[in-house]
Amino acid sequence: MKSCLICKSPIEPFINFGNMPLGNGFLLPEQFGDEYHFPMRVGFCAACGMVQLLDQPDRERMFHENYAFFSGTSRYMAHHFRAFADQVITSRLPGKDPFVVEMGSNDGIMLQNFAASGIRHLGIEPSKNVAQVAIEKGITTITDFFDADVARRIVAEHGQADAFLAANVMCHIPYLHSIVEGIGILLKPTGVAMFEDPYLGDVIEKTSYDQIYDEHTFLFSVASISYLFEQYGMEVIDVQPQTTHGGSMRYVIAHKGALPVLPHVAAQKKKEQDIGLHLPETYSRFRRNCESSREHLMALLRDLKSRGKRVVGYGATSKSTTIINYCGITPDLVEFISDTTPIKQGKFSPGAHIPVRPYEEFVQNYPDFALLFAWNHVHEIMEKEESFRVGGGKWIVYVPQVAILD
Ligand code: SAH
Ligand code: TYD
Repeated sequence: MKSCLICKSPIEPFINFGNMPLGNGFLLPEQFGDEYHFPMRVGFCAACGMVQLLDQPDRERMFHENYAFFSGTSRYMAHHFRAFADQVITSRLPGKDPFVVEMGSNDGIMLQNFAASGIRHLGIEPSKNVAQVAIEKGITTITDFFDADVARRIVAEHGQADAFLAANVMCHIPYLHSIVEGIGILLKPTGVAMFEDPYLGDVIEKTSYDQIYDEHTFLFSVASISYLFEQYGMEVIDVQPQTTHGGSMRYVIAHKGALPVLPHVAAQKKKEQDIGLHLPETYSRFRRNCESSREHLMALLRDLKSRGKRVVGYGATSKSTTIINYCGITPDLVEFISDTTPIKQGKFSPGAHIPVRPYEEFVQNYPDFALLFAWNHVHEIMEKEESFRVGGGKWIVYVPQVAILD
């Protein structure tokens, strides 16, 4: 039996997705033969509340010099991170010469706002190609994996930080104990850690099971995050729900007793109890919902094929790797996936090997249906793709339910 990565209690899977490729493992035909797969099973720890993958690929397989995810591909996300940075600058950097550290800074989408305001900052980003984009923008970045040792090095070289930031990366890290220890070392006595990740409550309520893939080791809740940080003398002082990535939660953490704890922390924990995030049966129900979503989506795609309709995927997201391989979507059902990221274009999707083509091919020859894999960017995309809809094109979505949008 596996043990919980956070509290070491025995833990069993509530869903088994089978052998899965890497979510961002877009590849060329000559690489099909030795494509990597891992058993993707998810468990809920009834002792500490953490939902987690039971097996994790080595980190170097996922984060390297050819990492396929560039944060800057979404204009909306650039706007989101500017607002995040503004919140930090106006309310969390009181003293003179403040210092901000970001883990998983990617192409600098967040830190560019601090750099523009002349604020001392440091990004920690192990994927060399995306880190290079940030460095070229003038953002101070070290290419490394953050952990407690790196935190000690940062303190020795730059001093302690007023703010430690992280977006969509805490949940990627199986060795979270070392990260949280590192945050404790890095933060000034009244410093704050602010991080956001896809929220367990949203995943359960929307059956957005595509948030589960190799990089997402954990799905956090306020309860599980509170438990984890308490082990290291810290506490959650605020929680702020976000609409990004289909429903995320921003957690604000401080050394215990250093700053006031806002009332909505307790309110959100109560809400989590009300929706049953602490109960094993919630996860059995989630599994049944995933199975039913898979049946509906496949029935729809098969029906469209039998009627001779063309279906193209929109957005070669890492999330789509779970949908495609769990449902069994093949290139005869989805002709290609349109994506604006140059490093993904001309490659094939992990596992099912559906071609990924430049966005221009979507526009030049509109399909009958577009399967919205980048559903978390729905507003940005609908606005941009008005002429597809006006020309009679239809969108297929599967979160929260499989449906054709009118
Ligand atoms: N913060 C960005 C990027 C998220 S993708 C955004 O929200 O858009 C996750 C990033 O975390 C990747 O760029 C990956 O290389 C990086 N990463 C993974 N493990 C890390 C670690 N231990 N320390 C720092 N960065 C890490
Ligand atoms: P995203 O949903 O942010 O990430 P994840 O990989 O974490 O699931 O990825 C969005 C993908 O969709 C990315 O490859 C870029 C692509 N994309 C488009 O092709 N067109 C668009 O208009 C947008 C917003 C994204």
